[in-house]
Amino acid sequence: MEKLIINGQKKLCGEVSISGAKNAAVAILPAAIMADDICFIDNLPCIEDVTSLFNTLTKMGAKCEFLDKHTLKIDSRNIENVSATYEEVRKIRASYYLLGALLGRFKKAEVAMPGGCNFGSRPIDLHLKGFRALGAEVFVDDNVVKVYAEKLHGASIYMDQVSVGATINIMLAACLAEGNTVIENAAKEPHVVDTANFLNIMGAKIKGAGTDVIRITGVPKLHGAEYTIIPDQIEAGTYMIAAAITGGDVVVKNIIPKHMDCLSAKLEEMNVTIEEGDDSIRVISDRALKNVNVKTMSYPGFPTDLQPQMAALLTVCMGENIITENVWDNRYQYIDQLKKMGADISIEGRVARINGVPELVGTDVCATDLRAGAAMIIAGLAARGTTEIKNVKYIDRGYEDVENKFGNLGADIKRVK
Ligand code: EPZ
Repeated sequence: MEKLIINGQKKLCGEVSISGAKNAAVAILPAAIMADDICFIDNLPCIEDVTSLFNTLTKMGAKCEFLDKHTLKIDSRNIENVSATYEEVRKIRASYYLLGALLGRFKKAEVAMPGGCNFGSRPIDLHLKGFRALGAEVFVDDNVVKVYAEKLHGASIYMDQVSVGATINIMLAACLAEGNTVIENAAKEPHVVDTANFLNIMGAKIKGAGTDVIRITGVPKLHGAEYTIIPDQIEAGTYMIAAAITGGDVVVKNIIPKHMDCLSAKLEEMNVTIEEGDDSIRVISDRALKNVNVKTMSYPGFPTDLQPQMAALLTVCMGENIITENVWDNRYQYIDQLKKMGADISIEGRVARINGVPELVGTDVCATDLRAGAAMIIAGLAARGTTEIKNVKYIDRGYEDVENKFGNLGADIKRVK
């Protein structure tokens, strides 16, 4: 069991380089096995979720080899096994993308129900409804999702709810279906676009990714490709928020500033100065922070995956701050940990009321999930005294080299066994 130990109240200053996007990587790796060929994926983040998928793809028969820390060669010419057991997929929610990828290429897949962060009910009914619309038979048997099709055909699919996972999963399978598929009310997140771009380089015909209507013309097969994953919007946002809470001056490098618009606007509303470069954002926090309201939405709205980090920042913004979580039912499990540090927060359903306090005080806390763990780091960086964060394994699922990146910015943070 590893812990992060932070001695707080150090201003963060300097530059931090952002890694490849986790939520693009976990879709693009399964997409790579849709070709009976070799793919090279670059700018992969060095995180546990990528390691889990590496192991799962290898067990299926793909030959996976890291050419360097961030570049993976995947040779999918000898895949024999189209199933993944619970033991393989329990840690990673995005294992559901194996269903769409295998269904597209092999017309069958058996994948245990996905694991991942626990914040309330996380159904995959929209994914399964999409597969059925494409002509697949779908069963859930002993917690294993089984999908089969003689052949897949294009379909018109209206998503009842905007879902990143269902949009990408249906897109994967539809690439290798016969005829045209239209996905309406599709998710527009940057990783949806990144996955579509990768599939198109592999020979798919996808138009409209990034808008709410995606049109796909099926092709008989995909071929190998080389691809560089986009920077991680959520990792970038985490460092921007950390700069803001510590009164810091940080350049967040290797990002797509447009992806950060919603957070940049919110930080500016709070009195933080944002200077946008071509592929960087400088965050200067030298004034008292102003209280704000935040509502999470699908892209281009405020991302739910920055909600816990933002909550940590708002604990020290004097006045009343209100967060409304519109995506997940129960993404406030970390609030008790912030309260242990002196935060004044009350929860009513999807709404968190945060009354800013002059300072947080370091204590022992727990990362209850990935982004909650990031929120604990942010709170610890601002707190007086020492914060010990347990369950670092959650943070390692999605943040590369977290203690060194923060350490290089001047944080007093270390990892201990
Ligand atoms: C993706 O999860 C991300 N994960 C999540 O990030 C992120 O919180 C979420 O999108 C929302 O942005 C990955 O990309 C791997 P959804 P996903 O389907 O695709 C409901 C992180 O911290 N829904 O967009 O699983 C669902 O209950 C992780 O990096 C259905 O009802 O989320 C939720 O309320 C955590 N039926 C809403 O839609 C379905 O079949 C949005 O979920 C699917 C979803």
